[in-house]
Amino acid sequence: MDLLQDPSTSEAERARYLRAFDFHDAPEKEIALKRLIASAANSDSASEGPSDELVVEAVLRLGDFDFDSSVSAKQSVLRYLHTYPGTDAYFDLLQRFQFAEMADDLFEFSLKHHDQTSGVRAAEILFLMDRQSLLLDAIQTDDLARRVAAVTLVGLAGRNKTVSLLLPVVTSDGLSSEVRVAAVEGISRRPNGRKRLLDLVISRKLPDDLKFAAANVLLSDEDEAVRIEAAKYLELPATADSQPLPPLRTLVKRRGDVAAGAKVFRKPGTCINCHKVNGEGKEVGPDLSEIGSKLSREAMYVSILDPSAAVSHNFETYSVLTEDGSAITGLLVSDTAESVTLRNAEGIDQTVNKDEMEIFQKQSKSLMPQDLQRLMTADQLVNLVEYTLTLTKK
Ligand code: HEC
Repeated sequence: MDLLQDPSTSEAERARYLRAFDFHDAPEKEIALKRLIASAANSDSASEGPSDELVVEAVLRLGDFDFDSSVSAKQSVLRYLHTYPGTDAYFDLLQRFQFAEMADDLFEFSLKHHDQTSGVRAAEILFLMDRQSLLLDAIQTDDLARRVAAVTLVGLAGRNKTVSLLLPVVTSDGLSSEVRVAAVEGISRRPNGRKRLLDLVISRKLPDDLKFAAANVLLSDEDEAVRIEAAKYLELPATADSQPLPPLRTLVKRRGDVAAGAKVFRKPGTCINCHKVNGEGKEVGPDLSEIGSKLSREAMYVSILDPSAAVSHNFETYSVLTEDGSAITGLLVSDTAESVTLRNAEGIDQTVNKDEMEIFQKQSKSLMPQDLQRLMTADQLVNLVEYTLTLTKK
């Protein structure tokens, strides 16, 4: 009797047997593997047939398999996919068989792991299945983190579709800065994308809040012609010694002095006026005591130099205009039935009664100043970033 068919054969023995097949010739191996998978199909209850894992091992060893001919083999594989998301087998199976019923699962997986290789791989399979619409729809939802993650994934996984999908995002009025900055980054991963970005700059269609992101990419392009053309329209902001800021790509390669950076944090950087570190400083912006565990070197530069590109959720800026004509801008500290309290850039809280309020609006800009680089030289900035990166969880 066939070892694989015999109910007394243990699961471990079967698996060993299966692996032994890797040394056999193709026709013999294929027949035995198909017979094993068919035994999953024939057994009435899952407990009698081979386990889902074994069916998956067998399927993966076959060149091809027609799941339409075996509903229970397919059920086995789907159960396996739901149990072991993100494994090598998960991606192998989905890439080869592209089960339509797994598209939502892949989509959620990709969003959840958008900053990891596995999330990008999941998004690549969505594109392979022609289900990128799931990602594109997510760009229009209310959830900011999902919007940014979806744009990032289209940028990393979209290949030759990236530019045409993300170009409309860049110029869309309805989307916030951080989503459009992520689209600029996605597009600029592709050479033709950088050319299209340059076209937008030349035709003056690039929104102002994307100029810093675009300047960083285009002024450090490998193609000298792109660099020269871009420099006619864009410049990086000047630092304290009137020199233009070097592009991010150059800055991230440099290393600084931590002790000198700690000084810059107070003066001339003025960071301490708004941020607490280990109990010291004002609490206008987030506490930075563990910021080095949260942000990469590049993200740290972007947070400092282009704050509106990454406004943290809890720190959205609002402005109020009162009936007597005074305007207040700051972070929303409280919002009750009677009044609104905003904390301004100096860390001072101001409360306004709702019946005196003319306009109450969320701002797309961060309360953190856009031009802090003008307070520092490039060297001081590099030292400052080196210091902030040492602020990690204890
Ligand atoms: C006028 C107040 C103000 C000053 C000055 C200021 N910041 Fe901020 N900063 C904020 C606010 C408010 C936020 C949160 C909103 C946002 O994300 O833009 C923030 C956010 C940040 C973040 C992102 C934090 C996170 O959790 O993602 C970093 C990093 C940061 N600031 C570093 C600095 C450094 C370094 C300096 C000094 C060069 C500085 N800030 C100066 C107000 C300020």
